[in-house]
Amino acid sequence: MREIVLSGIRPTGKLHLGNYFGALKDFVRLQNEGKRCFFFVADWHSLTTLEHHEKIRENTSEIIKTYLSIGLNPNKCTIFVQSDVPEIAEIAILLSMFQPANELSVLPTYKDVIVKHPENNNAGLLYYPILMAADILAHKATLVPVGRDQEIHVRVAKNIVRIINNRFGNILPIPQIFEKETIVVPGLDGSGKMAKSKEKKNTTIDLIDSKKAIKEKLSRALTDPQRKKRNDPGNPFNCNLFKLHELTSDEDIVKNIQQGCHSAEIGCVDCKRCLTDSIWNLLTPIQERRKNITDKDIQNTREKGAREARESAQKTLKILKTKMGLSS
Ligand code: TRP
Ligand code: SF4
Repeated sequence: MREIVLSGIRPTGKLHLGNYFGALKDFVRLQNEGKRCFFFVADWHSLTTLEHHEKIRENTSEIIKTYLSIGLNPNKCTIFVQSDVPEIAEIAILLSMFQPANELSVLPTYKDVIVKHPENNNAGLLYYPILMAADILAHKATLVPVGRDQEIHVRVAKNIVRIINNRFGNILPIPQIFEKETIVVPGLDGSGKMAKSKEKKNTTIDLIDSKKAIKEKLSRALTDPQRKKRNDPGNPFNCNLFKLHELTSDEDIVKNIQQGCHSAEIGCVDCKRCLTDSIWNLLTPIQERRKNITDKDIQNTREKGAREARESAQKTLKILKTKMGLSS
């Protein structure tokens, strides 16, 4: 059976190296392996946090542009926007009938948000995993590449499939999370993974950053705290920038940095200069492609994707409605 891959990103801001190594790079690989792929923008999901509504439209276009600029090809995969496919909402309503309500309010993903932001306690947030299950099941996805933090949501989807299949026969495949070596890209301030957040600024390197911006961000980035002076030997494994070297630099450069840092032959300034070049080499082709992407390309991609995704979701919806006793 051909694998069906599906994944989505919420339109919450500029995409960065953390998104690239954590997700986007795999999307391109899965597409190029010839799998049937659906990649979308989860704009409904972004509404659950009730902020920045004025930016959602722009951020949505930005994600499609990024999808195209990293090498996703609308002739090889389906690129769409969640809210362009109303069938997903309809499927979500049907799926919700199989989801025990009490299980939703104890999910750590839900609890974490409302502990930190009690004002954010809306039913849409509680419903988040059901909507995500609808995203996945609408296209009968078998493989879902997502970060560890989303694993629990995929588990909710699996459970819903089990309940439905028990009841109606095997009508849906059980989705599997796409297992890979977890790549955690550290933030530049050394406090966990590279991510956008309200509290912290400048911990990300964005895919659209200029070489100058990368250089500036790296110059301020935290290195091995033990290495106070140029002549102090450093420990690369205690430095978040070394991880970025491992992800973006050639093997021999990585080796040289490792030795040079240990022996204090290389200073952090040289090391950062070298890292700037490596990151810039990675981003150059992405940014070159990006320059040629027009608003019309984005619109065409979105429309083609919506047609394909709707057609696919309608099939699933029809099966569900028939089995559940509705006219289809
Ligand atoms: N919740 C995911 C995230 O925050 C985004 C998402 C929504 C998604 N629907 C999905 C990912 C379906 C995979 C499959 O990252
Ligand atoms: Fe980090 Fe490089 Fe400095 Fe070593 S030399 S502490 S790896 S920035």
